[in-house]
Amino acid sequence: MSETWWRGAAIYQVYLRSFADGNGDGIGDLAGLRSRLSYLADLGADAIWLNPWYPSPMADGGYDVADYRDIEPSFGTLAEAEKFIQEAHAVGIKTIIDIVPNHGSDQQEWFLQALAAGPGSRERARFWFAEGRGDLPPNDWQSIFGGPAWTRVADGQWYLHLFAPEQPDFNWTNPEVVEEFHDVLRFWFERGVDGIRIDSAAVLIKDFDSVEESYTDHDAVHEIYRGWRRIADEYGDRILIGEVWLPDQERFALYLRPDEMHTAFNFDFMARPWAAGELRASIDLTLETHLPIGAPPTWVLSNHDVPRPVTKYGRAVTSFDHGERRDGMPSDLALGERRARAAALLAMALPGSVYVYQGEELGLPEVDDIPGELRQDPIWRRSKHTVPGRDGCRVPLPWSGEEPPFGYSTGEPWLPQPASWKELTAEAQSADPNSMLCLYRTALRIRRAELGDGALRWLEAPSGVLAFTRESGLACVVNFNADPVALPPHEKVLLTSGPLEGDALPSDTAAWIRLSG
Ligand code: NOJ
Repeated sequence: MSETWWRGAAIYQVYLRSFADGNGDGIGDLAGLRSRLSYLADLGADAIWLNPWYPSPMADGGYDVADYRDIEPSFGTLAEAEKFIQEAHAVGIKTIIDIVPNHGSDQQEWFLQALAAGPGSRERARFWFAEGRGDLPPNDWQSIFGGPAWTRVADGQWYLHLFAPEQPDFNWTNPEVVEEFHDVLRFWFERGVDGIRIDSAAVLIKDFDSVEESYTDHDAVHEIYRGWRRIADEYGDRILIGEVWLPDQERFALYLRPDEMHTAFNFDFMARPWAAGELRASIDLTLETHLPIGAPPTWVLSNHDVPRPVTKYGRAVTSFDHGERRDGMPSDLALGERRARAAALLAMALPGSVYVYQGEELGLPEVDDIPGELRQDPIWRRSKHTVPGRDGCRVPLPWSGEEPPFGYSTGEPWLPQPASWKELTAEAQSADPNSMLCLYRTALRIRRAELGDGALRWLEAPSGVLAFTRESGLACVVNFNADPVALPPHEKVLLTSGPLEGDALPSDTAAWIRLSG
């Protein structure tokens, strides 16, 4: 693969805890992942991005990192992680890990030292400790997971946590913090990882002087990523991928300047409703933002933080909004699946790289009925059990067999799998050419062989239809209307997300074709 493999890569997101369990404790692990590498190679993954794999008390599914230079024992060992990187490379798959710079775990050595050292110490200066206003916290900032963003410690000081109290924020104005993370990056680059996904990348710099809550997208954050880029470049073709949620595309593009990150997740596309005009607007906006700076766009339909596409696209409201998650909103899953299939072909035909979140290729729906006592997402706790949160898209994968744990484990999965998933196992779908899994496999194969990296050109199309062609001659047509539409004159139909009606493209269906002439 070329040095710029990442510009057009298909990147598969592994939520390790729920992927495959090799030791029977019900928790996915590296042994499970290593045993399924051939599945990912067959699927057509160019790279794997793993959510945090570090030792963690799991107050936020591993985004509360207790040691940035080791592996969570229930996932495996550092030696095994190194083996995994080599084995992935041997089957042509690059590896991307998740670094969480905004906050650590309250069980991390540094934080324990800070608690012990007391107010005014060098140890506390690595975090945001402050005096309160009497019995009130230093300011009124709210945690992104609900409740106050400050927690008080025994000596009376408070510390800042934009997320859960178990996730104290680092003080990025402290050079020790900067140095520490440079060292962590080197640690993993030395071990062969090809890329870093940067968690919550835009919120590292805080402005406490502002009367408003002010931590998103301050200019000073860019200096941090310039430093990271210099390190990535020391190692050659290693890449930085930002998790940057910003409504303003011009501000978003600043993170992709040539001396900062290589790419960033394009959440605008994921958040839009299932509607031709909206998705076209998002595609245009994305291309306008990325092309002038030479950064490849990314296309994401789902991840471990948002509802599964099959469920989302079958609801009366098909957009996504963090502020209003719509967990549990009823969904017509047959409709949602049709649309999710079409959305996959749309996303995979666009210029840039594409992400596939584990289980998306199996068409798994969101699991809405996880019993409250089993839910682990801090959003559920922090919202006082009013917002179910993200566990429903993190249920362990069904691999084979007729009943749970569906080949995922020999033990009991950490979240229960619905019995109805027997239809959705990788094994069952491999045997069915019309399955979601076969659609993803075929689409990724054609994408790799025929899509190319040339420009996109919109084709004239009736209202409610998106049609574009790529320089390679591969064209994609998606029908969002209720009635079928005629396909443009073509030499060949390469792939469709559902059966054609004669030569017409039915409602909520996508086709990849080669145009005639
Ligand atoms: C974004 C991650 O994707 C999410 O899962 C996590 O809870 C927050 N960042 C905090 O680390």
